[in-house]
Amino acid sequence: MHRTDSLDRFMADVRAGLRASPKRLSPEYFYDALGSRLFEAICQLPWYPLTRAERALLERHAEEMVAPFGEGASIVELGCGSGEKLALLAAPLCKRLPRLDVHLVDVSETALDLSRRTLSRLPRVEVSAHRARYEEGLCAATARRLPGADGVRGGGGGPVLVLFLGSNIGNLDPDAAAAFLADVRASLRAGDALLLGADLVKPAAELLLAYDDPLGVTAAFNKNLLSRINRELGAAIDLRSFDHRAVWNAERARVEMHLVSRRRQVIRVSAIDLEVAFEEGESIWTESSHKYEPGEVVHMGERAGFRCDRQWIEEAGRFSTTLLIAEERAARR
Ligand code: AVJ
Repeated sequence: MHRTDSLDRFMADVRAGLRASPKRLSPEYFYDALGSRLFEAICQLPWYPLTRAERALLERHAEEMVAPFGEGASIVELGCGSGEKLALLAAPLCKRLPRLDVHLVDVSETALDLSRRTLSRLPRVEVSAHRARYEEGLCAATARRLPGADGVRGGGGGPVLVLFLGSNIGNLDPDAAAAFLADVRASLRAGDALLLGADLVKPAAELLLAYDDPLGVTAAFNKNLLSRINRELGAAIDLRSFDHRAVWNAERARVEMHLVSRRRQVIRVSAIDLEVAFEEGESIWTESSHKYEPGEVVHMGERAGFRCDRQWIEEAGRFSTTLLIAEERAARR
């Protein structure tokens, strides 16, 4: 994606989101250079067990997870983060394959750089980076696999394993998640696979601590979105005039993050010539993180045209990793 395209989209989304009611901004904009690093810091927090729980599963079961994939296999990771989890899965594959193609898809240049560096430890891995949103990146990564391209070097005649880890799916509401999985299925062939990481429902107090940590790293991560609007769109929002808030919505099974205005105020975003008024206590809804039951993840995959090969649940029941295989019939939508 070109810089100007992404800046245009950011401008359009900020305009639409701040004029909407309730006000909202998309979580994909958290991940500028600083935001990506704040997220890496969140993953190390003792109160945010998600990343550790998933890593424990991958460390223990990586071999089984990639067992179905042989020569010609390639991996596409959507939202690659630091590449650490990808490396755990790629390691057993590149040990037994003559070559492994890996495609990184992320909107964050920082994430792509970190992942590239992480993967450079592994032999016989060919890395392509796509700075793009998930759907575009997945298309770019699978584009060279035209029918009949089997066996073409780099065209990846073998199966594609798509990784969608870290509960990135949690940012999508259930309808969007279903549509997204159907899109992924549509870009795959029968026998390709999706390894899906989903965070599981747990007690409210634990979830709130994970999204409102005592060190304030999650608050900084959330507020960095305002700082990004200041830097990139020429606004002068007083970051101290907003509070970070995390709410557990039990009915919808999601944690919602908000930026709450501490006072009545008007903010000006000069690059898009926008003025927005806030009431005291009015919020911008910046993220939803949906939590699932293990069976729901399987059903979601099945509805999108996959069958569940296997599901692994972390020891303490905190996280799920599900291997979904694309079935012959395409998704019903
Ligand atoms: C990367 C979307 C899975 O929802 O838990 C971490 C992002 N937000 N703390 C999540 C996040 C607040 C994270 N995901």
